[in-house]
Amino acid sequence: MLKVTNLTKQFSSGATKVVAVKKVGFKVPDGCFASIIGRSGSGKTTLLSLLGSLEKPDEGSIEVDGQDISKLSDHAQIKYRCQKIGFIFQGYNLIPNLTAIENVMLPMEFAGQPKQQREKRAKELLDQVGLTADQMQRKPGKLSGGQQQRVAIARALSNKPKLILADEPTGNLDSQTGDMIVKLLHGLAKSEDTTIIAVTHDLSISESTDKTFKIDDGVLKEV
Ligand SMILES: Nc1ncnc2c1ncn2[C@@H]1O[C@H](COP(=O)(O)OP(=O)(O)O)[C@@H](O)[C@H]1O
Ligand SMILES: [Mg+2]
Repeated sequence: MLKVTNLTKQFSSGATKVVAVKKVGFKVPDGCFASIIGRSGSGKTTLLSLLGSLEKPDEGSIEVDGQDISKLSDHAQIKYRCQKIGFIFQGYNLIPNLTAIENVMLPMEFAGQPKQQREKRAKELLDQVGLTADQMQRKPGKLSGGQQQRVAIARALSNKPKLILADEPTGNLDSQTGDMIVKLLHGLAKSEDTTIIAVTHDLSISESTDKTFKIDDGVLKEV
């Protein structure tokens, strides 16, 4: 269960202040695929950064697995990110000079897993997201956008995270490829029993998710 209470984050640049996330509260059960819909500048990326502990909130709490992660020390936050969270970004963020399989193995290397185990899990995951053995050995530049996003999804799953945070996961893809990625995420939420939070301005994603929220000027509502 992910439980967010009264979450607030403000930015100030010079004299102007922006409250990017305003007293946000919501709950998402394990294995649930939730979407948060909002236009550009509504606070989506800031909210995901707070959930992923990339930013510290000014107020409020975030409970993952019964632990309030907003109060963790810097060191414990890094551990939390590595062990419990998988990130998927709009621009895939793959390392260009590593092959697809090496990209997926990397987070497991940081987690200290032995090479054989890393390779086995990476192959299984890439197979699950639909890459061929040949594609696994290619560098990102030799894969299509949809294939790169599949690799990024496999990488996000590599350490069996409790929570996957996806920022506009279909933003760079055509609508048909985007639909395939959304279907894939649906299947993975169930098969890997992981919670997925996807933020997007794409209404077609939110139509199919288990739970849908709307964010407007930092204020979140369930729809
Ligand atoms: N690091 C930052 N410094 C100052 N303002 C920021 C920062 N990050 C986001 N903002 C502001 O917070 C608001 C929400 O931004 P963001 O979360 O990126 O929205 P979205 O992802 O929905 O487009 C915007 O007004 C944006 O300008
Ligand atoms: Mg954004």
